[in-house]
Amino acid sequence: MSQPYLALTDELQNSPKTWLITGVAGFIGSNLLETLLKLNQQVVGLDNFATGHQHNLDEVHTLVSEEQWQRFRFMEADIRDLAACKTACEGVDYVLHQAALGSVPRSLENPIATNESNITGFLNMLVAARDAKVRSFTYAASSSTYGDHPDLPKQEDTIGNPLSPYAVTKYVNELYAQVFARSYGFNTIGLRYFNVFGQRQDPNGAYAAVIPKWAAAMIQGETVYINGDGETSRDFCFIENAVQANLLAATAKDEAKNQVYNVAVGDRTSLNQLFELIRNALATEGVSYSQAPNYRDFRAGDVRHSQAAINKAHTLLGYHPQYSVQLGINKAMPWYVSNVG
Ligand SMILES: NC(=O)c1ccc[n+]([C@@H]2O[C@H](COP(=O)([O-])OP(=O)(O)OC[C@H]3O[C@@H](n4cnc5c(N)ncnc54)[C@H](O)[C@@H]3O)[C@@H](O)[C@H]2O)c1
Repeated sequence: MSQPYLALTDELQNSPKTWLITGVAGFIGSNLLETLLKLNQQVVGLDNFATGHQHNLDEVHTLVSEEQWQRFRFMEADIRDLAACKTACEGVDYVLHQAALGSVPRSLENPIATNESNITGFLNMLVAARDAKVRSFTYAASSSTYGDHPDLPKQEDTIGNPLSPYAVTKYVNELYAQVFARSYGFNTIGLRYFNVFGQRQDPNGAYAAVIPKWAAAMIQGETVYINGDGETSRDFCFIENAVQANLLAATAKDEAKNQVYNVAVGDRTSLNQLFELIRNALATEGVSYSQAPNYRDFRAGDVRHSQAAINKAHTLLGYHPQYSVQLGINKAMPWYVSNVG
């Protein structure tokens, strides 16, 4: 563990705080919950189960002590409901706002639904957190905000045009966050996640992300489809790195606030390489997959390459990703072997 993160986890254990996690029944939210409960924090969680699951919460329950679980209060509620957001923020020190409808293809199919949760819901949470005078507000931004800008690696201050309704919503979050700093002195931190993956990322459904989707296909002996020629690349980021970034951001000094940060590894892996990494990791878990991938058309709204510069998060937040993509894949695959099928 890096020194700043180690120091922070010690400090939190010595002086527990109250956290609100929106989207707590989802992939990233439930992993934040697990880490915070293991650090003996008080946690309020909010979710409407749009894409999250009760079984994610149940799994966290099995991974913490009963005493730690008693420090968690769950609200089944919707961030499109301002009153619910206000109730959730009462008495909270740190907000980790994760609730949103993810997925570029989902937003192309139904831009209105994505807009309602990701923009109206976000604005409700900003207002509620501002009025509750929380100590900090950290939110899930997205690498999709880089849009069609070709430069690599992606630097926070250079973005292009959005390529999907989802990307618009995540950029609007950043704009609202800036305006709340300017107009109300309410400072936030946006974390631009780059393809986060790991345990409890949903392998099911039409909008599943690539790593869980391929892991499930390989475990079940089904065809793996690659959109395009397989040379499309991403900066895949293991969940533990994203959790670290959230805790550091929530507790960051004022100078580091009113900013957005890339959260990634700073590396680039092609889909062809990813296919091999997943296949090899599953092989060590006793799952052998010998089929070749099936290449099909490129997907609308996808950028060709993505790779983050992570020096800003390193310098201002003390962020130091502990997991390479390979280490992360090796850590994540046993969960899929146990949970798929
Ligand atoms: N996973 C990634 O690679 C990635 C990349 C960039 C950004 N993000 C962002 O990170 C956040 C978490 O993503 P995730 O991968 O954990 O997805 P997820 O779908 O697993 O989690 C999102 C959670 O938000 C909840 N939710 C959605 N709309 C809601 C609403 N109106 N009210 C209350 N709860 C609602 C869902 O039920 C779900 O539990 C999202 O904001 C997403 O846009 C994720």
